[in-house]
Amino acid sequence: MKKFNCSFFHCLSAPVNDHNNNDFPEVENDGNFRLFSCNELKSATGNFHSSAKVGEGGFGCVYKGVLRDGTLVAVKVLSVELDSMRGEHEFVAELATLSNIKHENLAGLRGCCVEGTHRYLVYDFMENNSLHHTFLGSEQGRMRFSWENRRHVSIGVARALFFLHEELKPHIVHRDIKAKNILLDGNFTPKVSDFGLAKLLRDEVSYVSTRVAGTLGYLAPEYASSGQVTRKSDVYSFGVLLLQIVSGLAVVDPYQETERFIVEKVWAAYEANDLLKMMDPVLNMKYSEEEGIKFLKVGLLCVQEKAKLRPLMSEVVEKLTTNMDMKDVHITKPGFVADLRTIRIRQQQIGINTSPSPSQESSSATGATFTSSIWSMSNLAR
Ligand SMILES: Nc1ncnc2c1ncn2[C@@H]1O[C@H](COP(=O)(O)OP(=O)(O)OP(=O)(O)O)[C@@H](O)[C@H]1O
Ligand SMILES: [Mg+2]
Repeated sequence: MKKFNCSFFHCLSAPVNDHNNNDFPEVENDGNFRLFSCNELKSATGNFHSSAKVGEGGFGCVYKGVLRDGTLVAVKVLSVELDSMRGEHEFVAELATLSNIKHENLAGLRGCCVEGTHRYLVYDFMENNSLHHTFLGSEQGRMRFSWENRRHVSIGVARALFFLHEELKPHIVHRDIKAKNILLDGNFTPKVSDFGLAKLLRDEVSYVSTRVAGTLGYLAPEYASSGQVTRKSDVYSFGVLLLQIVSGLAVVDPYQETERFIVEKVWAAYEANDLLKMMDPVLNMKYSEEEGIKFLKVGLLCVQEKAKLRPLMSEVVEKLTTNMDMKDVHITKPGFVADLRTIRIRQQQIGINTSPSPSQESSSATGATFTSSIWSMSNLAR
């Protein structure tokens, strides 16, 4: 790893308010991270033209861009309020550090742009968008994913988490594992994105307990109720994702009276000794039954109510990649967050205005993504 001085990269961008070129601290980086100018990103994205938009999340919109040398990038426009973000130096230093974290199954961060009040993140562009976009939601989407594809995606995500949790020192808890954060390259190789993003925000404590990054259904019960973030809360979210990849189901089915949550459905099938009925029908029986059942059991193990009963990601990788027999593994009832009450209680405890608008209330009750509403609440609280 070689040292680089951010001030050098700063020269590449247009002047930034109130600091000179020597202001950026020295940051360890392998040399691939760079600062972009706003103009460069504008011309890459056709002035952030709506036709270049590839997605939108709680932080803002994401655009496809083509750099001058022809490289495809994804530009994430951070539309959060500036005072909720770290200062320019910290922001760049943090990103440069994050960009050093490289793994085959992690989305690559190329650089950023900091100009006045603007903040942009520049990532490698992923041809097949996200697992949420390309796989979930339609039968046609799921039909593009054979069992081999699904195995490839599941193991890739498990490896990325194993790397972040157990190989990286100090380790990183992702906090927001969900189908939207699993990007797919041209070969459908999964790239986990948005790791470490929480650190870009100034107030990490309230970030954790108020935004409660994620989507209802992926949240580990202890994370939702107490904001407790551990590697095991990521394991929980991974378990939900794995159950989705195998079954093709949404994390929450708002139209159902009972067994609305995927973990409830799979648990009921497990208890009835009929896990095979959870296999995605569009797979058309083209899979090894033994392996399908093993993947579902690993998913159930990851979503155990008690965090200490959940496996480490190294164990998950081992179970998914070897012929390990899961027959005698004891699995107990999974935990899940049935509604937002527990989160609200936590927010009240720390004195934050949590009254959501009626529309936010109903969207969370139906299990829709609540990141944006929680996110704006946390901004309100500042
Ligand atoms: N590198 C990329 N290449 C291609 N598409 C991307 C890339 N990064 C993000 N996207 C698309 O943009 C969408 C928005 O991404 P973003 O990370 O801002 O929010 P999110 O993860 O979808 O949701 P949330 O903000 O709720 O966590 C993604 O769901 C995906 O469809
Ligand atoms: Mg994301």
